[in-house]
Parts: sequence; structure tokens; C-alpha cells
Amino acid sequence: MIITGKYPYLRMRRSRKEEWSRRLVRENTLSGSDFVLPIFLTDGINKKQEIKSMKGVYRYSVDNLSSIIDRAIKNKIPMLALFPNTNQKLKDNSGTEALNENNLVSKAIIKIKNKYKNKIGIMCDVALDPYTSHGHDGLIRKKVILNDETVEILTKQSLLQAQLGCDVIAPSDMMDGRIGEIRKILDKNGYVKTQILSYAVKYSSSFYGPFRDAVGSKKALKGNKKTYQMDYGNLNEALREVALDVKEGADMVMVKPGLPYIDVIREVKNCFKIPVLAFQVSGEYSLISNGIKNKIIKEEAIYETLLSFKRAGANAIISYYADYIHKIIR
Ligand code: PBG
Repeated sequence: MIITGKYPYLRMRRSRKEEWSRRLVRENTLSGSDFVLPIFLTDGINKKQEIKSMKGVYRYSVDNLSSIIDRAIKNKIPMLALFPNTNQKLKDNSGTEALNENNLVSKAIIKIKNKYKNKIGIMCDVALDPYTSHGHDGLIRKKVILNDETVEILTKQSLLQAQLGCDVIAPSDMMDGRIGEIRKILDKNGYVKTQILSYAVKYSSSFYGPFRDAVGSKKALKGNKKTYQMDYGNLNEALREVALDVKEGADMVMVKPGLPYIDVIREVKNCFKIPVLAFQVSGEYSLISNGIKNKIIKEEAIYETLLSFKRAGANAIISYYADYIHKIIR
């Protein structure tokens, strides 16, 4: 890079002096189109329950989604992400409920597609943790998470979601080889247009705590997910994961969590010219929100962190703040 000019003739502060001038030279901005809105689902009728560890985020019953989706469409949010809080009674060792064409996600896809057609995209998580009694993303035998047996169920879960109208299949389980197998089953059944967003780079993180509260898997979960989610010391491994998933047919990839892995987003974007999404996860949301509530940091911190994802090269951000984006961008 060539640096032209020299102090005192060059003064960098000249362009920062006025608000209009800062706007003029701003390199990155945020709009509603940069966001994916996560929605938690719960049983019942006319329900809207606040999640204790995520103030400002709610679980909705399937009949009660209109207000949040109307707002998302008004704010130009391109896509929703559905996450179920499955009734404990329906959970079992192998996550059978994941394949129920009447489960919460199934019902929500049908309802939303019926009402909104293609005004907004629907993305669904593919993994077993909201459905298993042990809270893990895969099947377990003798304390080991089984890979290939889990992948087989995930392909069925993906096909079911595609059949019901899901636009973007998003495997978040971190089993090996699942992207290729999911692409295969989708194509074989005629769902060639259904996209795959791979959680290609998902670290075994402490920042998922409030999410596990939200879907009700926290109490059940024993141990950790370190035998399938990534070790957070690794960057090269992230690039290998992305390369594999792209080869297997991923249309887009996710890096997750967000802020602690902002370097990974940039590196993935530099190496692969594909759409990259950042997931600002539940723990990040709760920390920032609590900091603001307790007057430790200013509300503008939300904008600052969200914009950092764009600066790092993310095409879009999955964020619980997406529901408030009209207030944040204002
Ligand atoms: C489940 C899944 C998790 C998240 C998204 N999908 C949690 C986990 O892997 O334990 C986390 C999202 C968040 O924390 O906001 N496979």
C-alpha cells in the first residue's frame, strides 16, 4: 500500500471533523438486509414467553408469529431462522421428534409459507440437540457421539424440512460428511433449488449457554460438545472445514460464534469468495444487553459490534438484535 502525504500537510482528522464527512467516507454500513432473524418456537396458543437469560428475546407459539414476522418484512430482513423448544416429554435418546412432520418447526414452516409465500426466506437448523433427552447433536452409543449414524438421520431431517417448504437447510451439528449426504438426498428427491448454509466453522464455545436455555437442552446436557465442535485454538482447521463443505455442495457457510472469531470470518472471506454469515450467538447478545442495562457500556455498542462483522467480510449476520434493527440503525 502506498501512503501519500505527510504531517503537517496531511491531517487524518480533517475527514472526521463533521458528521456529514464521516458519513461520506464510511466504508461499511448496516441495513435490514444484512440480518437473519432467529425465532424460538414453543407449544401452545397465543404464547409469547420471555427467555430468562436473554431479556428481549421470546419464544412464540406457531399461531402467534405474525407480529414479529410482519416487523421483519417491514425492516427488509431477508430470512428467518427457526429454533424449537421441544416439550421434554417428546425428547428421547435418538431425537425421534426431529423427523415428525408435525413437530414445531414443521408446523411453523407450513404456516409461514402459507401466509408469506416468498416474501421472506426460511432457514432451519439441522441437528438433534433440541430433540434428544441428552442434549447432544447426535446419537450416542457407549458415551461416543456416532457420526455416520447421525448423518443418516440428519439427511432425513433435511429432506423433511425441504418438503415442507424450508428454503435454506442449515446443518449446525458438525458431523463429518453431512453436507455431501444432505445435498445428495435433496437432489435425489427433486429439491435441487433448496440451499444449504453450512455451519462449517462452529467452535465448542461457552457463549451458547442462553441458547441452550431457550431450546431447553441445558439441564439435560452432560459434559461438552468438544468431540464434534471445533477447538477454539484453531484457524487452519476452520479453512479445511470450509473447503470440505464447499466441495460437498454448501452454498453459504457460517462462522460461529461471532465476535471472538472475527479473524476467522475475515480469513474465510479472503480464502473463499463465497457468502459467509456470522452468528452473533446468545451469549454475546446477553453480555452486551446486560452491559447496556447496567450502564456499563453505551447502547451504541450494539451497532459497533454488528458493523464489525460487515467490516470483517460477513455477507449477513444472524443476530437476536435483528428484531430491533429499526431502532438500532435509526
Ligand atoms: C444447536 C445450535 C446451537 C446454537 C445454534 N444451533 C447450540 C449448540 O451447539 O449447543 C447456538 C446459538 C446461540 O447460542 O445463539 N446445534
